[in-house]
Amino acid sequence: MYQLCPSILSADFNRLGEQIKILENEGVKILHIDVMDGDFVPSISFGMPVIKSIRKESKMFFDVHLMVTEPERYIRDFVECGADSITVHAEACEDLDRTIELIRAAGVKVGVSIKPATPVNDISHLLDEVDMVLVMTVQPGFGGQKYLEECTEKIQELRELIDAEGLDTQIQVDGGINEETLSTVMEAGANLIVAGSYAFRENLAESVQGIQKKIEEISKTIS
Ligand code: DX5
Ligand code: ZN
Repeated sequence: MYQLCPSILSADFNRLGEQIKILENEGVKILHIDVMDGDFVPSISFGMPVIKSIRKESKMFFDVHLMVTEPERYIRDFVECGADSITVHAEACEDLDRTIELIRAAGVKVGVSIKPATPVNDISHLLDEVDMVLVMTVQPGFGGQKYLEECTEKIQELRELIDAEGLDTQIQVDGGINEETLSTVMEAGANLIVAGSYAFRENLAESVQGIQKKIEEISKTIS
């Protein structure tokens, strides 16, 4: 139930295929793929052609995080190029309920994400309609930022709501996860852990092994 989701935003794009193989060999199941449009967030990352080409080489679950304004425009494209789940930002959608329906109708898993300043309350009515809630723990847009402590409470709040309703909605966290913050987010109730700069260090295989081991150890201390 706890899974590491390495974010390829921190990959060495000159060696992307090779690095994805390493992740797969280390037993990584979920690949976190950050798409940025230069409008919803200040930066631009990559889009469909990159996903399409890595799809040919990988069986991992492609978890596509759209940091894109009006993402409903692109759902079909991302599904066609190989997304297994599509996460949209609540703040980026004109009609969030409709967008969720469209993703569901396209046959992939549905995630909804909230930025650090967006309260859990804004999405709490649709916890039973999505597979995953992504709590951003930095401002979306760049890797390598510092974890925002004020987000911990939001993870706890979500965990309480999900458990109280008896749902199996997953809680993903993204941004500033490292050796210190990993236990904070897991203890608060997150189970899908995105790691960019923490995972893609000098020796990728070793670093991923180390994080997976830590996740397992911490999970044993959580009831
Ligand atoms: C940031 C992206 C993240 C990013 C995280 O907007 O959504 O997925 O890769 O990077 P780290 O783990 O370095 O904070
Ligand atoms: Zn992300």
